[in-house]
Amino acid sequence: MTDTIAIDVQPVGTSRLANTDFSNLPFGKVFADHMFLADYRDGEWKNFRIVPYGKIPISPATPALHYGQSIFEGMKGFAGVNGDVLLFRPLDNLRRLNISAERMCMPLLPEDIFMEALTALVNLDRQWVPQVAGGSLYIRPFMFSADEYIGIRPSQDFTFMIINCPVGPYYSTPVRVKIETHYTRAVAGGTGFAKAGGNYGGAIYPAKLAQDKGYHQLIWTDGKNHEYIEESGTMNVMFVVDEVLVTPALSDSILAGITRDSVLALARHWGMKVEERKISVAELVNALEQGRVQEAFGAGTAATIAPIELIGHQGKDYPLPPVGERKFSNKVYNELDLIKRGHTADPFHWVVKI
Ligand code: COI
Repeated sequence: MTDTIAIDVQPVGTSRLANTDFSNLPFGKVFADHMFLADYRDGEWKNFRIVPYGKIPISPATPALHYGQSIFEGMKGFAGVNGDVLLFRPLDNLRRLNISAERMCMPLLPEDIFMEALTALVNLDRQWVPQVAGGSLYIRPFMFSADEYIGIRPSQDFTFMIINCPVGPYYSTPVRVKIETHYTRAVAGGTGFAKAGGNYGGAIYPAKLAQDKGYHQLIWTDGKNHEYIEESGTMNVMFVVDEVLVTPALSDSILAGITRDSVLALARHWGMKVEERKISVAELVNALEQGRVQEAFGAGTAATIAPIELIGHQGKDYPLPPVGERKFSNKVYNELDLIKRGHTADPFHWVVKI
């Protein structure tokens, strides 16, 4: 790739690498040495810079803080052979970032800026990409309004940043989920399909109520009648019922997960029957009662393929078959992991090497 943007790089004096325990990487708490920033001013992206990871000055009048005009992405980099770093489907993350940007009235980020920023930052911090089994570099691009104005209007100034975290698994055990039929994550016409900060902020309280009852996460249902399964907030949800892979069809209240798309592509490639359609809570509960749900799992960048151990609904818990017996989700987890790490063929050209 030929560079088209000039990035000012201010490297750290002393790296924190030597003090980092790569055998114990809680998700999202350990940050690589550097971060990328760009400013949107006077209608264009400028001031491209990489600086030591750290706090940033921010006006107390920033609309991102008051009105949640803030979007993000989650993507991963993996340690390949010979020190290569392998990025998984980065341009799909950029596509989705720009879909979120449009919905949240924010400027689009051009591909050259995104890819050159990502390449320069990951390149500089390539020693932060974990070599340990199950480890990866979680890459968090995000954009927020940076006006100094507390009236409501389309903002004029924005900041785009990328920070990186070496991580292990997001869920370290199979997850227990509860079908949520009171609170709502997203509604038709809302922002549920965008990776907007507020979608996640508003989900914390209902998820906490479920966590207090021993669940890890919710399965959200539609905001109108709580009749149909949507997604799980940190991941999309998928089921194998009677040997068919079934997942809610995308809508404007469901995030178009890149892991979801990858799972569907592999399943179709393997000749499995796949259905993307509405799944009612009644249909799922019925299939659970009849023991026809062979597998249930979440699919997400952070969560990867997260087996669901149990589904709670209206005070009753429905356990699922033992994780070791789940043919499809174990196979797709392994295959995706091999592709991401460059250990097998990449038939869909998902991996971008740095
Ligand atoms: C991701 O999987 O990248 C996500 O954004 C989930 C996150 C909220 C941890």
